[in-house]
Amino acid sequence: MTEAHLPRVVLVTGTDTDVGKTVVTAALVATARAGGLSVTAYKPTQTGVAPGEPGDMAEVQRLTGVAAVEGVRLRAPMAPRPAAALEGADLPTLGDHVARVADLGVGHDLVVVEGAGGLLVELTDAGETLADLATVLPDSGVLVVARSALGTLNHTMLTREALFHRGVRPLGIVIGAWPEHPDVIETTNRDYLGALPEGLVGAVPLGAPRHDAATFAADAPDWLPGLAQRLGTP
Ligand SMILES: Nc1ncnc2c1ncn2[C@@H]1O[C@H](COP(=O)(O)OP(=O)(O)OP(=O)(O)O)[C@@H](O)[C@H]1O
Ligand SMILES: [Mg+2]
Repeated sequence: MTEAHLPRVVLVTGTDTDVGKTVVTAALVATARAGGLSVTAYKPTQTGVAPGEPGDMAEVQRLTGVAAVEGVRLRAPMAPRPAAALEGADLPTLGDHVARVADLGVGHDLVVVEGAGGLLVELTDAGETLADLATVLPDSGVLVVARSALGTLNHTMLTREALFHRGVRPLGIVIGAWPEHPDVIETTNRDYLGALPEGLVGAVPLGAPRHDAATFAADAPDWLPGLAQRLGTP
């Protein structure tokens, strides 16, 4: 059962790294913008990029034209805690991220927060995760990005069980890359995910990141029909 309106903070997690969280983040930003909302995106911990290199928020900006911000950046392409340890860096606290999201929320109707890897990856030196951030951010919920292929049902069910266990508000599932010619595994996966209570709220077509910003922005609301209809003006 889907709820009428999206919260003012949407956290985008995934069943794994590389499942399409950044592209879904961009699609949600574009969809919100098309609905007349002011929106930005925030990546609390960006790993695997050197100073000056484009990270996930640069990709969101490239695909949407909307400025997006990072919390902390670490060079090593690994989870934030070991990446920070390699540099001898301190990670921002959960309170730092809450304050940053609150600041962004002052100037925007919607803040989209992209996690690092999957839901239980530790983002802080105290070991807190995106799920912990969701539990302390007021008026927030979590969107789960999943793969289309074999294995996605177990990963998706594990992720949603962790969400429910923590009392986090589920906003639905999005398939990160949906092929033009899905096989029977993919179509049955889609049907199974679509029958879950929070529902399959969209699927981004395979190849979408190759679009230019204008095409991406124009098409994105069609990829997320279950969210577009819930993005009413505040
Ligand atoms: N719909 C799609 N069609 C084609 N390629 C895609 C699609 N979605 C994502 N990709 C590609 O797959 C790779 C991983 O996607 P993306 O960066 O969005 O994953 P992620 O979940 O954000 O990863 P991370 O955990 O590093 O943040 C990227 O190279 C991206 O361009
Ligand atoms: Mg990403």
